[in-house]
Amino acid sequence: MPDKTPLKKILVIHGPNLNMLGQREPDIYGHQSLDEIDTELKALGEDIGLQVESFQSNHEGEIVDRIQLSIGACDGILINPAAYTHTSIAIRDALSLIDIPVVEIHLSNIYKREPFRHQSLIADIAAARISGFGARGYLLGLQGLAGFIE
Ligand code: DQA
Repeated sequence: MPDKTPLKKILVIHGPNLNMLGQREPDIYGHQSLDEIDTELKALGEDIGLQVESFQSNHEGEIVDRIQLSIGACDGILINPAAYTHTSIAIRDALSLIDIPVVEIHLSNIYKREPFRHQSLIADIAAARISGFGARGYLLGLQGLAGFIE
């Protein structure tokens, strides 16, 4: 009998300016485009039995809306809130109201950078965080998240 267990669903959220990856400060953020990262995430998801959907927005309220839509529809969230990491109580509150594990990702090591990047408003509600591995951090984060939702 074929396995009918539905695949666990992971929502990947990319915050503002991450749509410009590849062109944006490549010394800090690398040369891979967001599409390339999302393609790798989807492929890894298929390998490890997860359905991965990606969403990017430059708008705080749209990110809040997407997080709310994940209620009852997703099993885990991988999020790089980008600049909103350091400023958005609204995104923190949205992530607090959902009951699924959240993994926080940053391409750069935010602690090696300007002091205003050292604070993350979602750090204490995230199940885990990855910062400084570049695009590979997303893949590491997806593998880690898979362990949380097994
Ligand atoms: C970032 C770090 C943030 O400080 C910055 O605003 C970003 C990207 C990262 O992935 O390293 O846009 O989240």
